[in-house]
Amino acid sequence: MRVLGIESSCDETGVAVYDTDKGLLAHALFSQVELHAEYGGVVPELASRDHIRKTLPLLEEVLEQAGLERDDIDAVAYTAGPGLAGALLVGAAIGRSLAWALGKPALPINHMEGHLLSPLLEDRAPAFPFVSLLVSGGHTLLVDVKGVGEYELLGESIDDAVGEAFDKTAKLLGMDYPGGPYLAAKAEEGTAGRFEFPRPMTNRPGLDFSFSGLKTFAMNTWLDSEQTEQDKADICLAFQTAVVETLAIKCKRALKQTGHKRLVVAGGVSANKALREKLDAMPGVDVFYPRMQFCSDNGAMIAFAGAIRQQAFVMQDSPTFGVRPRWPMDELSPP
Ligand code: KG4
Ligand code: ZN
Repeated sequence: MRVLGIESSCDETGVAVYDTDKGLLAHALFSQVELHAEYGGVVPELASRDHIRKTLPLLEEVLEQAGLERDDIDAVAYTAGPGLAGALLVGAAIGRSLAWALGKPALPINHMEGHLLSPLLEDRAPAFPFVSLLVSGGHTLLVDVKGVGEYELLGESIDDAVGEAFDKTAKLLGMDYPGGPYLAAKAEEGTAGRFEFPRPMTNRPGLDFSFSGLKTFAMNTWLDSEQTEQDKADICLAFQTAVVETLAIKCKRALKQTGHKRLVVAGGVSANKALREKLDAMPGVDVFYPRMQFCSDNGAMIAFAGAIRQQAFVMQDSPTFGVRPRWPMDELSPP
């Protein structure tokens, strides 16, 4: 079965084709980062309009790369939420129309489930069950994953998501949007141990997170400093170390609580090198990630999630559709 996947939940248009026998056949991505950078964040209306411009050309590109005609597609998966309503509606409308025109099923996919399953696209794929740490610009989730669609939320951020905390801290230090990767690069020039940031919510039980205080801490440290490039690098390193250690402490707790030995990390922040090094060093735990390219938003994870779901469970199709800007993962049904 060949599934076309369309991702348009935020500021990346991604299209891909996944074949259940041959694996990923083709994928293409357009990032709107430059479009939003001058505003310092994603402008929803600009995002929607750009998805309209890019989705069909990417679709043609992917079919050509895969050497397929439209009729060769057996199902069309699209991100139905969570995300920006207008942006989601573009992918949903195109995906639904195409599926309807071809007489094939349309599969609404939860974006976070796409991230969660993305490490299964790799040759070294994790077996179930596992604990999943999902760290993106909009979410920070710890999930007990027993199988496809069997997700129990263990913990989440009560305020800023990790990626959001990276981006906001980077912004107040004068870096471009999205600042996460810039902050991580700057941290490499930092002096370890010069500043000590808190590890929020680690000295009480539970698996929830809170990251908004760290950006305030970073801002106060910056304002109290001489504001040299070295001060900036030292603050970036202290911030990143605090985030990474906080995430590692909670992952360890979640693994102990569930008894699982496998940890799967996905979402934009899973590209962070310091985070990977810290988690890889945890004794007795096998850690799995998507390839770097698929840490951030992409169409491959949506095509793949669609294929897995459709293979196990023919989804109910209906001629009407909607999108879900908020769509908690524990509301997903097992296939
Ligand atoms: O998953 P994603 O592409 O989009 C959402 O679904 O939100 O995640 C984007 C987030 C942004 O906040 C970005 O700054 C962050 O991931 N990010 C990083 C790194 N690469 C991307 N944060 C820290 N270190 C990185 N290397
Ligand atoms: Zn995402």
